[in-house]
Amino acid sequence: MSPRYLLLLGFVVLAVAIGVSACKDPRKGYAPEQPIAFSHQLHAGTHEIPCGYCHVAAGEGPQASVPSLNICMNCHSSVATGRPEVQKLTQHWREGRPVEWIQVHDLPDHVLFSHQPHLARGIDCSECHGQVNRMDVVEVVAPMTMGWCVNCHRQPEYNAPVDCFTCHY
Ligand code: HEC
Ligand code: HEC
Ligand code: HEC
Ligand code: HEC
Ligand code: HEC
Repeated sequence: MSPRYLLLLGFVVLAVAIGVSACKDPRKGYAPEQPIAFSHQLHAGTHEIPCGYCHVAAGEGPQASVPSLNICMNCHSSVATGRPEVQKLTQHWREGRPVEWIQVHDLPDHVLFSHQPHLARGIDCSECHGQVNRMDVVEVVAPMTMGWCVNCHRQPEYNAPVDCFTCHY
């Protein structure tokens, strides 16, 4: 097969992948209710707990993992123990049942994204996630489309790579 046909085939495969992943569409404006009413505004805003206290891996690897209950219990074994939502949390912890947080941001599987190179260049969380410290419920604020990624990569001050295999397998 000629390279042009291979490229075309690649597009078809990607289009199908998109069609499948379109069933859930975690895009701009998506803000699912969480199983426990955790507020970033309260924790990262009012109480000024740094993002990195909970999202420990942000910047060190591809994933800015959602915190385990042990991190919550550093405080909540003694803080606000009378609140119903904190009691729910404590119940999970006692039973060793992780909270099933609903994933808010979710790029299609054919896209390569890693936090590491972005944070290494000093890009702040808010560039891509907005003012999370003012959100009661996390909401997707950036379009999370290919155009959004590529436009930023093309900015002269960043001059980041834009060839297809930068972001696709
Ligand atoms: C006290 C712990 C804590 C702190 C501090 C914290 N977060 Fe979170 N974060 C969580 C938890 C728990 C979740 C999962 C539940 C949710 O989405 O609200 C989460 C979810 C998120 C998500 C959505 C993840 C997804 O599924 O796509 C983003 C983005 C995020 N946090 C960014 C931030 C930023 C930026 C800061 C600092 C301004 C921050 N967080 C500070 C605990 C924390
Ligand atoms: C560094 C300390 C600290 C950590 C870590 C922490 N919290 Fe909190 N949390 C607080 C404080 C302080 C309050 C507010 C208590 C008050 O308003 O009197 C609070 C309040 C809450 C409330 C009650 C809100 C309400 O108004 O009823 C929930 C639910 C909660 N936190 C969930 C979590 C979860 C889930 C985590 C882990 C992802 C977490 N917290 C981690 C300090 C912390
Ligand atoms: C260049 C844009 C960008 C920056 C800067 C950025 N994020 Fe993200 N973040 C994303 C994208 C895109 C996703 C979705 C990744 C996916 O679905 O594979 C994401 C996902 C997440 C998630 C969900 C879990 C995960 O890793 O997939 C958390 C939590 C998160 N980001 C927290 C943060 C925090 C905290 C910071 C700052 C320390 C930050 N992000 C900086 C773009 C960014
Ligand atoms: C706010 C600007 C900005 C946004 C938005 C952004 N990027 Fe980046 N990206 C950068 C910069 C800057 C670099 C680092 C380039 C360097 O260090 O040479 C980078 C690097 C990368 C790399 C590593 C490239 C390499 O080989 O070094 C990948 C992969 C990547 N970005 C994918 C994405 C994807 C996918 C999205 C959208 C979901 C995205 N980026 C959104 C600015 C951005
Ligand atoms: C900076 C990162 C980045 C680069 C470079 C990039 N893409 Fe993408 N691409 C994405 C993201 C993110 C999506 C998912 C967009 C969505 O879900 O809306 C995507 C989606 C796609 C899709 C699915 C259809 C669509 O628009 O959603 C195709 C096909 C595609 N890219 C082809 C390419 C080709 C061909 C190149 C090279 C010319 C390229 N991409 C370069 C990030 C990138």
